[in-house]
Amino acid sequence: MILVTGGAGFIGANFVLDWLARSDEPILNLDLLTYAGNLETLAMLRGDARHVFVQGDICDRALVERLLAEYKPRAIVHFAAESHVDRSIHGPAAFVRTNVEGTFTLLEAARTYRSTLEAGIQAAFRFLHISTDEVYGSLGPQDPPFAETKTYEPNSPYSASKAASDHLVRAWHHTYGLPVLTTNCSNNYGPWQFPEKLIPLMIVNALAGKPLPVYGDGLNVRDWLYVTDHCSAIREVLARGTPGETYNVGGWNEKANIDIVRTICALLDELRPSPEGSYARLITHVTDRPGHDRRYAIDARKIERELGWRPAETFETGIRKTVQWYLDNPQWIADVQSGAYRDWVAANYGDRGQGA
Ligand code: NAD
Ligand code: DAU
Repeated sequence: MILVTGGAGFIGANFVLDWLARSDEPILNLDLLTYAGNLETLAMLRGDARHVFVQGDICDRALVERLLAEYKPRAIVHFAAESHVDRSIHGPAAFVRTNVEGTFTLLEAARTYRSTLEAGIQAAFRFLHISTDEVYGSLGPQDPPFAETKTYEPNSPYSASKAASDHLVRAWHHTYGLPVLTTNCSNNYGPWQFPEKLIPLMIVNALAGKPLPVYGDGLNVRDWLYVTDHCSAIREVLARGTPGETYNVGGWNEKANIDIVRTICALLDELRPSPEGSYARLITHVTDRPGHDRRYAIDARKIERELGWRPAETFETGIRKTVQWYLDNPQWIADVQSGAYRDWVAANYGDRGQGA
């Protein structure tokens, strides 16, 4: 069994579904079900004994210790976090609590737990920390993409909290010998992403005829990776990564935000034409995000060289699948937007305490 934290969020849920589609090794899924956690995404696992869900907080040391002692996972894959940059600007406290204190709590619980394991299992134990390229700061137009050796220069409360968590993970390896692995990944997109992030927000707003808010001049650049490619990278790092190492994960897909939005509009024009004309009419430039990082780009050569990982999707194939997925799943979007997914969880998971 492996313990996954944050497995009801966007990437965590995709990882859980992807893992159980390929393996019968069970998953213990610990998630607090904040606004970003949605068990409706995992509906197809209802009744599947390989998925044990526990609603709980990674900052709750007693709970984490009890779960480790009871389920004896061979690895922890740590996704749980506050993940949205704009929210971190308006309310940074939750980011420090979950991303820093929560990671600290998991590391301490893992360290104690691992010391109780017999030698062979202890040697095989892994703590895989899922992090972000935002810890490296912002690139100029001519700068090389982020390599694993790049200095940390986080600029937002979110990226600062993730940088802090990365440093804790590194220290628990260096000082205590905990077999940790860290992945720093670029912007993910794909099915089941909460519509506060750029790509799903633009799709759902366009379908509702609402403005498409592009921050500033729209020329900020991100690297984009289809979420199942991130899942395959995590599987490879967990299976064959070297403890203490970090791996940058990216899609070799640098795009300006305005080009992403135009691409989404063009796909919607093709797949769901509007009688009012192109969706591009809805593009609206709005006030920029404070401290908005200009450019991120990932040098993903290390993970390719050492573990043979490369993304399977191009941006063109991934964005088409994504737009089609949102067109095909209006009920998921409606439930998220209305908050009804919470009723779904209550109806299907009772007290949301525990169970497959
Ligand atoms: P998300 O916001 O969609 O999901 C986060 C999940 O964590 C939710 O299910 C939430 O309920 C849970 N959670 C939050 N606080 C918790 C707590 N205290 N205890 C237990 N569970 C808690 O996030 P995501 O986009 O899926 O990102 C997952 C991880 O990947 C994060 O660590 C993020 O920093 C990292 N990451 C994300 C991206 C991206 O583009 N989304 C890119 C690189 C790295
Ligand atoms: O780089 C990895 C990071 O990518 C992850 O660590 C974060 O968890 C994830 O949220 C994401 O952060 P970004 O800030 O890059 O993603 P977001 O979707 O919020 O914004 C992408 C770009 O689009 C960014 O330059 C801001 C811009 N944007 C965003 C929104 C929500 C807009 O122009 N308009 C919008 O409405």
